[in-house]
Amino acid sequence: MDNRAVGVFDSGLGGLTAVRELRRLLPSENIIYFGDTSRVPYGGKSEETLIRYSQQDMAFLRSKDVKAVLIACGTATTAALPTLQRENDIPVLGVVDAACRRAVEATRNKRVGLIATAASVRSGVYERTMRTMDSTIRTVSCACPLFVSLVENGRYRRGDAVVELVAREYLEPMKATGVDTLILGCTHFPLLEDVIADVMGPEVTLINAGAEAARELALVLEKGDLLRDGVGSITLYASGDAAEFGELAGHFLDEPMVKPVEPVNIEND
Ligand code: DGL
Repeated sequence: MDNRAVGVFDSGLGGLTAVRELRRLLPSENIIYFGDTSRVPYGGKSEETLIRYSQQDMAFLRSKDVKAVLIACGTATTAALPTLQRENDIPVLGVVDAACRRAVEATRNKRVGLIATAASVRSGVYERTMRTMDSTIRTVSCACPLFVSLVENGRYRRGDAVVELVAREYLEPMKATGVDTLILGCTHFPLLEDVIADVMGPEVTLINAGAEAARELALVLEKGDLLRDGVGSITLYASGDAAEFGELAGHFLDEPMVKPVEPVNIEND
């Protein structure tokens, strides 16, 4: 047993897709979440910058004495997972492996789509990971950066004309390739799941990278005898506007936010 909290970070709201699943699976855990909203989006940044940001995010969470960290961000995972694992003596998980494993299991025609940020697509990490799991998988990738800004601005609901237009523009060519499985490789994207499903159709399986990673983290904690007893809580930190973040986070997590979001000066803390 280990009563310390679990740390989770992302550039903004996206990582809450992992937190929602963690809350469902492990309601006894205390979760400390950091959304780096003053520097979102991560998806257009260089690898060097992403590694530096991820190290700072990690250092912040470690200052809260967490027992494990989930990098609930596809972009930070593709750029910085090996570095953070090497530099830290606690379990550090990303979202790529779990999502790829699930996609490889789910596909029947071996054509898997990937939508993610430009940095994640450019890295090729999702493709390479799937190919090591099954060398016959063909991946079709598309960067969808506008989705991140829409979500951060609270625009993700079905019926929003702008969101639906952007989704059609990004996804109709993807649908035309005949993929039967689509990895939502940026953790912001499951917030748009309804809209994405409407374009892709019911025959395409959508893989939620954050939720898959949360399941993997639950297994790691269980196997390592790191679970906690009692009633768990969520503490949210954001480097940008804390009140705005809290409002959207409460909505999305679908539970009352008991504590206000705490501001963090990530460059100097
Ligand atoms: N949610 C993130 C990801 O999974 C980052 C999106 C962004 O900041 O561009 O890639």
